[in-house]
Amino acid sequence: MILVHLSDNKAPTERKKPVSGFQWRLSKENWGQHSLSSCAFIPGIPYRVKLICAGHRQPNRHVKNHMVESSTNAIIRMFHVHRRYGAKSALDDITLDIQKNEYLFVTGASGAGKTTLLKLLYLGDTVSEGQILVDGVNISRIKRKGVPLLRRKFGIIFQDYKLIPTKTVYENVALVLEAAGRKPRLIEKKVRSVLRTVGMEDRMKALPLSLSGGEQQRIAVARAVVGDPKIILADEPTGSLDTESAGVIMAFLDEFHSRGATVIIATHDKSLIQKEGARVVHLHDGRLLTHTTV
Ligand SMILES: Nc1ncnc2c1ncn2[C@@H]1O[C@H](COP(=O)(O)OP(=O)(O)O)[C@@H](O)[C@H]1O
Ligand SMILES: [Mg+2]
Repeated sequence: MILVHLSDNKAPTERKKPVSGFQWRLSKENWGQHSLSSCAFIPGIPYRVKLICAGHRQPNRHVKNHMVESSTNAIIRMFHVHRRYGAKSALDDITLDIQKNEYLFVTGASGAGKTTLLKLLYLGDTVSEGQILVDGVNISRIKRKGVPLLRRKFGIIFQDYKLIPTKTVYENVALVLEAAGRKPRLIEKKVRSVLRTVGMEDRMKALPLSLSGGEQQRIAVARAVVGDPKIILADEPTGSLDTESAGVIMAFLDEFHSRGATVIIATHDKSLIQKEGARVVHLHDGRLLTHTTV
């Protein structure tokens, strides 16, 4: 008889606690594959596995940092995530899987926690409790120097564009690839190509403030997608735009979704939620309410 004991090795919030419900007695009859679904177990986190042979006083084998793979198709997994600011709970026990190439709307009134949720994904903010996996990596384990690598998985679009006013359209977009250490010739090719896609190739030398809001947001979209990110995050991307410009931006998000990106849009504007097949999750006071499909 062997007793298998699985404990959480390094999780920052639950250091070395045994994983609830995870203890099996294995005999010759039930040795082999075991289901992990019934215990509070998080794929992507190293666990300490202790195998204890009956009759031995000491555990006779440790398999340190044994990683159990996630078998899902999710690119983002949030497990019981909380974010508190003092006494205020901005996010309260969020558990959510986002699939590869999903098109997801996160909705809710102002103050519901949408921006906070997006920020936690790219370590623009850190959880108070809980775990987040991005593309199979538990982001709470990422050290400071690993953060840029995580951020390269994301293209981010904000309501207020966040373009650098002293740099030209071309330079604003090229910056992403320069920071990633790409070769100048490739940078030029990529930047031109993406500006062509968003219909702004002829404004390459312009400064952002000489453009309309809709045009500035097109540049922001170009900057978000130029590095071929796996995930596009858009936080109220059309909040400052008229209906026509908003439609243009949404069409680009559709386009990059159909090229394979996962698209996550936070918005309080229900009229934006039109894409067929998209999933909608609702936040209310930091809590996840219902899931629906458009
Ligand atoms: N840095 C912060 N410090 C204190 N409170 C914050 C901070 N960021 C967000 N909050 C609070 O958390 C809640 C959720 O905010 P936010 O995620 O911006 O909501 P939304 O994007 O849905 O409007 C709000 O009550 C907000 O005031
Ligand atoms: Mg917000």
